[in-house]
This record gives sequence, structure tokens and C-alpha cells, in this order.
Amino acid sequence: MPTFEHLSCPIDKQPLSSQGRSLVCSNGHSFDIAKSGYINLLPVQNKRSKDPGDSKEMVSYRQSFLNLDHYFPIVKHIIDQWPSALIDSSPCRVLDAGCGEGYYLHHLAAEFVKHNVALQRVGLDISKWAVTAASKRDKDATWIVGSNASLPMPDDCLDVVLCLFGFPVFSEFARTLSDKGYLLLVESGADHLLELRQILYPSIHPYKATHSEGIEGFELISESSLHYPFRLDSQEEIQHLLCMTPHIHKASYDGKEAVKLLNTINLTAHVNFRWYQKTTKEDHNAT
Ligand SMILES: C[S@@+](CC[C@H](N)C(=O)[O-])C[C@H]1O[C@@H](n2cnc3c(N)ncnc32)[C@H](O)[C@@H]1O
Ligand SMILES: [Zn+2]
Repeated sequence: MPTFEHLSCPIDKQPLSSQGRSLVCSNGHSFDIAKSGYINLLPVQNKRSKDPGDSKEMVSYRQSFLNLDHYFPIVKHIIDQWPSALIDSSPCRVLDAGCGEGYYLHHLAAEFVKHNVALQRVGLDISKWAVTAASKRDKDATWIVGSNASLPMPDDCLDVVLCLFGFPVFSEFARTLSDKGYLLLVESGADHLLELRQILYPSIHPYKATHSEGIEGFELISESSLHYPFRLDSQEEIQHLLCMTPHIHKASYDGKEAVKLLNTINLTAHVNFRWYQKTTKEDHNAT
């Protein structure tokens, strides 16, 4: 497995270098590379719970659902919208912050290879289950257990940060992106899985746009949406989708029981994409 060359010790921020099956810093902190190839850079003191992030079950449900490829249009859309300035700066250093079980980072690279664009990829997630699954899926990326709240990387070492359906920490994204680096935020839109939500909840809350006031340190450069139908054809597929979403914890007992009676469901995918570019100190001085 390749190890991204710009990793830093999560305890003292010193650069990490390879030593056998470990990464070590100059102060003697050592982090083992797991059998499947990922690196755990989440020190106990940075953990809010014993087993943070998505559980083993959620990760496996997400993997089963994503492998049906109903969300593959998201991969295609990201590639279509990829900033042209980055196509020439190959290999492009990409972090997927909250990568889950690695579906998007894996397929992005596989599609980009067809266009002769090379990505140097790092996937990071706070869930060791997600990262374990990702490291088994794809041996050509660096997979890290870590937190967006304190990325184990030095300043200015990335060209792109992807945050898909995740938990963005913009100050860390801005710190680790190089000048004029790009951030992609992917979030669900108003109609996303509406048909499922209508069964799960007695009423649907009105949609609230996120970050409409802008994001400090970033300039919005493009906005787009995908809106398309897809269909699930078994109770098992429907449960996989339900169990990978927060609805499994939020919905009422009655709502979840109603979903158990379904054998098919027609659904809407509605996903919003926003590309941002990091603003530099000069940009601030000019305004
Ligand atoms: C809704 S899932 C999305 C996963 C993946 N991006 C996808 O779209 O398939 C959110 C992910 O964020 C991870 N997560 C939660 N808090 C995090 C944090 N502070 N830093 C990094 N990842 C985090 C969870 O473990 C989970 O895998
Ligand atoms: Zn250290």
C-alpha cells in the first residue's frame, strides 16, 4: 500500500516516516500499519467514545447498498465538474475526509485512470470499521483512522478535499489545502429519499440549506445538483439503505415497521454539489 508522504504525528504534529510496518515521529511515537494496510492516527485522547463514527453494521449496510451502484452517477458528476486547473496538475493530492468504506474515492480513481489523470489519494474516517473496509476494497490509496477535527497532515499539502455526506471541519480543510486548493461539499437535497422519509415520518421538515452565509476561508466557485429516480427491488436492499442512514436512529418504531412491509420502492436521489476554492491572504487584502 502506498503511504501518503505528508502525514504528521497526531500527538505532536511532527512529520511521520516509515520504519518497517510502522510510522514513527522524531519524538518516538509509533503507529502500526494494520494487516489490511490502514494506519490508525487517532490517539485515545482524541476519541470522544470507545468506538467513534459509524458502527461495523452501518458500514457493512452502506457497502452493500453502494455496491448496487445506484449512487454511481455521483461519481460521474464529480468527474464532470472536476476543476480543469487540476487536470494538468497530475498527480493531484486528494483527501476524502470522512471517506466511509471508500466507494467514492475508489471509483473516482478508477474512472480518472481512463482519462490519464492520476490521483494521489488519502481516505480518512473516524470509524475503524469504515477504514478497515476501505483498505480491503482498494490497495492503491492511503487509508487513515483519524478525525476531521484534527487532520494528521501538515499545512498546505493537499490539492483537493472531498467531503461527501460527512462532517466538515472547514478550518482544518483550509489549513491542509494548498493555496487555491479546492473543497467539494456533497450533501443531500430537499427531495433526497423523500419517498422513504414519507413512510418513516408523520411529517417532513422543510429543507434547510447549509452554509448559505458562506464558509470562512473559501470562495464558492460552482454549484450543481443531481436529481434522478432509482428503484430498490427487495426488502433486503431497502433495509441496507435504511440502516446506512441516520433515519435508522431517528425514525419512529411505527415508521420502521411500515418499511419492513415493503418489497419494492421507487426513490429519488437528490444531491447537491458545491465546489469551493481556498482564498489566500492576498485575496483578503485585495477586498
Ligand atoms: C454518512 S457517512 C458518509 C461516508 C462516505 N463519505 C459516503 O458518502 O459513503 C459519514 C461518515 O463520517 C464519519 N465521521 C463521523 N465523524 C467524523 C470525524 N470527526 N472525522 C472523520 N470522519 C467522521 C463516519 O464514521 C461515517 O463514515
Ligand atoms: Zn509524535
